Amino acid sequence: MTDQRVAIVTGASRGIGRAIAARLAADGRHVVCVARSEGPLNELVSEIQSSGGSASAKTCDISDFGAVAALVEGVAEEHGRLDILVNNAGITRDNLILRMDDDEWDAVIDTNLKSVFVACRAAARPMMRGKFGRIVNIASTSGIVGNAGQSNYAAAKSGLTGLTKSIARELGKKNITANCVAPGFIETDMTKDLPAGVIEHIKGVISTRDLGKPEDIAECVAYVTSDGAGYLTGQTIAVDGGMTMC
Ligand code: NAI
Repeated sequence: MTDQRVAIVTGASRGIGRAIAARLAADGRHVVCVARSEGPLNELVSEIQSSGGSASAKTCDISDFGAVAALVEGVAEEHGRLDILVNNAGITRDNLILRMDDDEWDAVIDTNLKSVFVACRAAARPMMRGKFGRIVNIASTSGIVGNAGQSNYAAAKSGLTGLTKSIARELGKKNITANCVAPGFIETDMTKDLPAGVIEHIKGVISTRDLGKPEDIAECVAYVTSDGAGYLTGQTIAVDGGMTMC
């Protein structure tokens, strides 16, 4: 068993997940980068390794629950430990409630909520064995204040906060923390197609400045997953430039 802390980051091929993976590797963790396709993951792993970090790539469709459980268990077995789990992968299938069909609802709930439950359940045992764990679920300010056109997404992200608090209560005594980090509007592929009018409106309600960057979220995740953050658990931390303040 290695002394290095081992982290899994899902949805690491781009955007927020990519920034989190790079940051955790820069902080000295071995990062298992997870996404559906190999190409961008291999690129990220090479980048991390060429700057002196340690990382590996695993492909997995997280909406395949059996595959998620096998992935988490496999990483713990391969490295003899699992210290950090960052459930970041997520999707949107936006629609107004009147038009939202069952498939749009199910796809978002399965990918953004159920797969996180499955991953956390699989991670609990190896973390208990290691007497250390840091679970971070990437939620959203939509899950805190709601968002028109995102009833499925807001329900899933809000569900993450209840899931995470319950895990925090169950596993706190085992030195395992569980928190949500809730991004506001961050410049990634997920937000790049928002209409200009929406972007202008969003900028108007953000206290600090423009939309955030993936690195703003990575900075928070780096702290929450650090050894020093053992007294922080069950929280949902909004990293949103002061957009919600609740
Ligand atoms: P993105 O769309 O740029 O990246 C999402 C990542 O998740 C990609 O790597 C994608 O391949 C992966 N992914 C999606 N479905 C998957 C599946 N079934 N199996 C495996 N991987 C899958 O999104 P972004 O913006 O980087 O978002 C990351 C997280 O942050 C998501 O959970 C999102 O809901 C959340 N978030 C993002 C916000 C933003 O403004 N960009 C705001 C609030 C929350």
